[in-house]
Amino acid sequence: MIRTLAETPPLPQPVAPHVLEPGTDPARPPLLLLHGTGGDEHDLIPLGRFVAPGATLISPRGAVLEHGMPRFFRRLAEGVFDEDDLRRRTDDLAGFVQEVQRRHGLAAPVALGFSNGANIAASLLLRHPALLRGAVLLRAMVPFRTAPAARLHGTPVLLLSGAADPIVPADNSARLAAMLGDAGAAVTHRTLPTGHGLAQMDVNLAREWIAGLAGEAA
Ligand code: MLT
Repeated sequence: MIRTLAETPPLPQPVAPHVLEPGTDPARPPLLLLHGTGGDEHDLIPLGRFVAPGATLISPRGAVLEHGMPRFFRRLAEGVFDEDDLRRRTDDLAGFVQEVQRRHGLAAPVALGFSNGANIAASLLLRHPALLRGAVLLRAMVPFRTAPAARLHGTPVLLLSGAADPIVPADNSARLAAMLGDAGAAVTHRTLPTGHGLAQMDVNLAREWIAGLAGEAA
C-alpha cells in the first residue's frame, strides 16, 4: 500500500529535500528521477508523470552545490569527476532509495536521470547492482575511469545520447554502453540527432521503453 508523506515521519536525509508523489498504478515500478546540474527535485516531475503514468515518483535533490547549483556529486572540471565523492554520494543515494522503499513498501525503482543525474544513475547501477529495476540514462557519460566489478544480471538500461552533444563525446557514451554491457546490463543505446538538451524523441522513447518494462502498451 502506498502512503502519503504526511502519514510517515520525516526520513533521515542523506539526500536532503525530495518529492515523493504516490502512484495510482501498483503494476508500475516507481520512478527515481535524478535531475541535471542546476536543477532540483521538482524539475523532472512532469516528465516522470508523462513517461510513467500512474507510477510513484521519487525525486531527490542533489546534495552538492556548485556555485549555488545543485548536483549529485562533485566534479573537478566539466566531465572530470571527483570519484571519491561520487562513490560516497552514490552510496548515500542508494541508502535514501532503500529507506524510501522500506517506509512506503515500494518495489525496486526504475531510475530516470538527465546529465549529472544520469551519471549518478550509471554509478548506482555499477555500485549497487541489485537496487534498480532498470534505468533510463539521458546524456550520460562514463562515471568511473575504471569500472567497479559489478554483476547486473540483465538489468535493462536505455541510454539515449545526442549526436551533437558538446559535453558527452560519442566515444564516451559508447564506452559507457560497453561498461554497462560488460557488467551484465541489457543495454539499448540510441544516438539521437540532438545536443545535450532533451528532445521530444527522448520523451517518446523513454515512455515506450518504460511501458515495455511494465508490460503495457505506451
Ligand atoms: C557532470 O558533471 O555530471 C556532467 O558533466 C554533466 C553536467 O552536469 O554538466
